[in-house]
Amino acid sequence: MVQKKKNNLKKKIFIKTFGCQMNEYDSSRIFDITKKINYFQTKDKSEADCYIINTCHIREKATEKVFHDVGRVKKEYRNKKKPILIIAGCVAQAEGDLILKKDRYVDAVIGPQSYQSINKVIKDIENKQEQQEITNFETIKKFDELKLIRNHNSNVSSFLTIQEGCDKFCKFCVVPYTRGPEYSRNFEEILDEADELISNGSKEIILLGQNVNAYNDKNRRLSDIIFALNKKKDLIRVRYYTSHPKDMTKDLLEAHNKCSKLMPLLHLPVQSGSDKILKSMNRKHNIEEYLKIINILKEKNPKIEFASDFIIAYPGENKDDFNKTCKLMDKVKFINSFSFIFSPRPGTPASEMKMIDEKLAKKRLSIFQNIAENIKIDYKKKLLNQIVKVLFENKMLREKDKYFGRDEYQNPVIVYSKKNIVGQEKKVLIKKFSHHTIHGVVMNIDNFLAA
Ligand code: SAM
Ligand code: SF4
Ligand code: F3S
Repeated sequence: MVQKKKNNLKKKIFIKTFGCQMNEYDSSRIFDITKKINYFQTKDKSEADCYIINTCHIREKATEKVFHDVGRVKKEYRNKKKPILIIAGCVAQAEGDLILKKDRYVDAVIGPQSYQSINKVIKDIENKQEQQEITNFETIKKFDELKLIRNHNSNVSSFLTIQEGCDKFCKFCVVPYTRGPEYSRNFEEILDEADELISNGSKEIILLGQNVNAYNDKNRRLSDIIFALNKKKDLIRVRYYTSHPKDMTKDLLEAHNKCSKLMPLLHLPVQSGSDKILKSMNRKHNIEEYLKIINILKEKNPKIEFASDFIIAYPGENKDDFNKTCKLMDKVKFINSFSFIFSPRPGTPASEMKMIDEKLAKKRLSIFQNIAENIKIDYKKKLLNQIVKVLFENKMLREKDKYFGRDEYQNPVIVYSKKNIVGQEKKVLIKKFSHHTIHGVVMNIDNFLAA
């Protein structure tokens, strides 16, 4: 009888997540937290009792996008009961007061360091409290609360945040202002959470942090976590991002040699190929140092490949600086690159610098992305008829007997299989590729004999 009454109180929570993987991790942890007050995840955005927009502030029009999304929610719920609407994430942190003032439909804004308060916020709104703004930097409290709540994520590949915030203050970046100062979680708590994920069925753990390799808990570094995870029997793969070149310490470089579960793809943002621009960005590394890291890593693990982030048309970037960035792309042959035109973020020092003409910036971005695309096509061509290891993450929804997985370099691979292969790592012969996906055939004993 009591049980029945409890079920009747079940409510639905929907989260729309933007931005980086850390936001994805946070959203999945918000689902874990709100279960305590009987709110359960729905994937249907039209039937929520509580609707959260988890926002990103990294590039332009972030706040405008939030208002557009709020407009969409209003439309969706025009003839229905209004859901509790909460804006979370980095825009909430940076522009929360503006959002609350401009739109009364929004019930609360909550910054990324305050999710431990989310249940109180929801309960207060249910009890008809005023609009709320929760934007303190309370990272310690956040993780103190999270360690008491089981991580229910059972994805084959799961995120695990080990570090938050940033003390580097690159002149273009909002992260130090939205996520606050660097904070590293307790080493043992991280391993406990990894055990939870593994017991839930996760086969790959992706360690996350805005500066993941700055991790330091009483001198235990990122490499110590990787070495510990490397020993976990039921875990197949480990990755980490995003790292900063300055924090690629010797022990971490060594992990790429010693830890067989650490995947041979490193996302190492460089931002520009010009030392002059790197200096003006306050990046704390130059190209010689960056290339030295790449070369050491290639010695440690000859299979390693690299991915990177680039900012094109940063204030002061001349033709020569831009050419240096293109040359770096060509030299390292990054297999994945994320490039954007510099976007002036309010409150950052670079937002006060003289912008480069928009037309020229767009032209440079297009030239750069062309180079990157050609490198990617050449790389994919080389994969044809190769046998690669793929960890299968899910069965495809609309295509019968097709499975989706990723190879060691995170390339998306699709295969046909009559058997359920989710959670398994298989050898796959690559047959063809399209713009986004690679298609292959799972190698079984019969294929091997025929090959
Ligand atoms: N911590 C990482 C690092 O040190 O490079 C980067 C984290 S940041 C969340 C992700 C990427 O966003 C950056 O690498 C940068 O390329 C891009 N980004 C940050 N601020 C930007 C801006 N103002 N304009 C354009 N791109 C930006
Ligand atoms: Fe932003 Fe990364 Fe620079 Fe920190 S190190 S300020 S997160 S770009
Ligand atoms: Fe965006 Fe905040 Fe991540 S600004 S990239 S959601 S740290």
